[in-house]
Amino acid sequence: MAFSDYKVALVTGASGGIGSAITERFAQEGLTVHAIGRNQDKLEELASRVKCVPHAIDISDTAAYRELLKSLEVDVIVNNAGVDHKGSIHTLSADQIDAQVTINFGAVLHGIGAVLPGMIERDRGHIINITSIAAAYPFKSNTVYHATKAGVRALTNQLRTDVLGKRIRVTEICPARVATEIFGKVHGNPKQAQKDFVEGYEILQPKDIANAIGDAVGAPSYANISCLEILPTFQAVGGLEFIRHTADDAGGKD
Ligand SMILES: NC(=O)c1ccc[n+]([C@@H]2O[C@H](COP(=O)([O-])OP(=O)(O)OC[C@H]3O[C@@H](n4cnc5c(N)ncnc54)[C@H](OP(=O)(O)O)[C@@H]3O)[C@@H](O)[C@H]2O)c1
Repeated sequence: MAFSDYKVALVTGASGGIGSAITERFAQEGLTVHAIGRNQDKLEELASRVKCVPHAIDISDTAAYRELLKSLEVDVIVNNAGVDHKGSIHTLSADQIDAQVTINFGAVLHGIGAVLPGMIERDRGHIINITSIAAAYPFKSNTVYHATKAGVRALTNQLRTDVLGKRIRVTEICPARVATEIFGKVHGNPKQAQKDFVEGYEILQPKDIANAIGDAVGAPSYANISCLEILPTFQAVGGLEFIRHTADDAGGKD
């Protein structure tokens, strides 16, 4: 089991559904887990039931984030924090675009950039990036979210070639729908979002994602589980749309 090769883990977005579950799983495996999020109350609640070191910081504050990372010898980093805004690129505000690019992609680059030199020096490490099926497939709306997640997918694949020859594993975890608070945040009405996206569905739970990550980290150190796409059995991605565009739609007649 490769868990025994590692001592220290860092999980971003640990105050939320998937990140909290990953923190809990890693703590059970005996790792010292640095749990990052903005919401101090949620981090304290997590730390009251799971052995971890909470850090209430905003990872879009690059200087503060890199300063923290400089002080740690991270063996396993899980880039999990993420935000999602509904709408396409032409309907989102500049702030909504910036937030997604900075948190979903920029902070992943900075996080890895800061911990990788130590991993290379120690010849030991595991980088885990949480993307989404949005990284792999187009489906209407949330365009910037899709683009940032696809960027993380490209980064994950690239990194494996950069660290080749070192005992550093790089894993992409690509979930479909998981029961967390993200839908309430995206759609602005947590109760309605719970009804629309969670209730009545056999939906994935945060623990399912944490268990998949546990399998990837726990695999022998010569095995790199490079990508895991995880869907609920009753969810599929696909479809082929073809819209008739008439002369009326074009604003004129033939
Ligand atoms: N749920 C799904 O269906 C699903 C599917 C595919 C992929 N994902 C991905 O899974 C990851 C976790 O999402 P989730 O579903 O667990 O959502 P969530 O419950 O909304 O959790 C998101 C986490 O990200 C943290 N975060 C956001 N902005 C941050 C910032 N600037 N600095 C520090 N932390 C920040 C939040 O912490 P604070 O609120 O404390 O800032 C929270 O802990 C995301 O990357 C998401 O895109 C989710």
